Amino acid sequence: MAATPATDSRERDLRDRYRSAGQEHVLRFVAELEPARREAFFDELEAVDLDLVTRLVRGDDAAALAATGGEIRPAPLVRLPSTDAEREAAARARDEGERMLRDGSVAVLTVAGGQGTRLGFDSPKGMYPIGPVSDRTLFRLFAESLHAAAATWGPYPLWMILTSPATHDATLAYFADEGHFGLPKDRLLFLMQGSMPAVDDDGKLLLAAKDRLATSPNGHGGSLLALRDRGGLAAMRDVGATTLYYFQVDNPLVPIPDPVLLGHHRLGHAEMSTKVVPKRSPDEKVGVLCEREGRTCVIEYSDLDEARMNERDADGDLVFRGGNIAVHALERSFIERIVETGEGLPYHRAHKKIPFVDERGNRVEPTNPNGTKFEMFVFDALPEARKTVTQEVAREDEFAPVKNAHGEDSPDTSRRALTEAYARWLRAAGVDVPRDADGLVPGAIEVSPRFAHDAASCAARVRESGPLEYRDGWVLTHDES
Ligand code: UTP
Repeated sequence: MAATPATDSRERDLRDRYRSAGQEHVLRFVAELEPARREAFFDELEAVDLDLVTRLVRGDDAAALAATGGEIRPAPLVRLPSTDAEREAAARARDEGERMLRDGSVAVLTVAGGQGTRLGFDSPKGMYPIGPVSDRTLFRLFAESLHAAAATWGPYPLWMILTSPATHDATLAYFADEGHFGLPKDRLLFLMQGSMPAVDDDGKLLLAAKDRLATSPNGHGGSLLALRDRGGLAAMRDVGATTLYYFQVDNPLVPIPDPVLLGHHRLGHAEMSTKVVPKRSPDEKVGVLCEREGRTCVIEYSDLDEARMNERDADGDLVFRGGNIAVHALERSFIERIVETGEGLPYHRAHKKIPFVDERGNRVEPTNPNGTKFEMFVFDALPEARKTVTQEVAREDEFAPVKNAHGEDSPDTSRRALTEAYARWLRAAGVDVPRDADGLVPGAIEVSPRFAHDAASCAARVRESGPLEYRDGWVLTHDES
């Protein structure tokens, strides 16, 4: 395994850099590596921003993250319409959002770079079969929503999908196998986000193998840097898109794109807007939309004190109730401002079990958290926005995430929520969908986005189709007539 002079000098440079950062141990197994693996490892090491790692390990970024003082209030909400005035405001927002969709000023971003550890699914989460009857995958559902958007409003919005080294190749292969779901290829863009190395409890970089660092995707906030570095912002400029509609890959109930949020965002002259749902209970583990010193922010459940968590208004509603569901509208110019200089958003720490290779070269699967991952969160952009809008929506209509393999926020709860939402659209359209003793649909049904993508389009399609009769395992597709 003789090294070439070039390899020698690469190794020397790397040793110098990593030694001065106190991280030379990562080169401990280099002499054992085959030349090709050694070169690939050197590529990886050269790409690491060691200054950033050193600052994060030292905690030099504490000020950027701290934001703890100051008066906290709940963010003002555009409430779920219950009065005529609120319904009229929602209708005006819808009109404006539809105008934006018709004139092609909206692009869509699905963040799908997460590791999906809690779900424990072998492939990228977007490939999870979520259709309650058809088993259509999350990606297929979203693709069909974009076909529906194009059929309703005109142009296909540019659809960008954030991937990470963990999901990129499999996601691309899946889209290719599926013929890109028939979407125009020039309206589809995959952006691979960056990674961050993980450190142990002494701040030392962990090795996942003798020739590989332990790394993880740099958080959904890394999407803003990926938009800059992987051509997303340039593509938006090329197609004339000024506003980005952002959502997570694990929520099959999200309307794509939602003209109402887009319209509120535009009419409110907002730079970044957010959808929230009323928290289920004071201690639900969800971030809450707040204002601190006049700036919008998300306060994580662990940082909201008991008194605020339980505070109720005169109607008995939680005062701090706007739970973040990570559906946003962002102005392109705002993203450009955030990423113009520097590293983007602040990094949060997550103390996790991180498998590693020890100093003897043995792989260790820790049973307790042994190290720290660094992640950016997209909602940390909110305080930078000059104006924001926070729109309250009904959980049962718009939020059914697939996070866990079982129990809450699992495929079972998400599929059930889809069936019930489709049933509400159909009932509102005059179709008789039965209820069991618990008030639930006594089976599973599914509405393809190409049949209808919301209650209003469902009513229109049912009017066209003539009488429809419920049956368990019903799938309404665009061919239904
Ligand atoms: P979660 O924080 O729920 O993480 O991501 P996850 O990766 O899906 O699942 P766990 O925590 O490992 O079980 C919320 C959304 O943000 C995306 C995910 O793909 C999901 O859509 N995400 C998360 C990224 O795109 N990149 C990241 O680095 C992290």
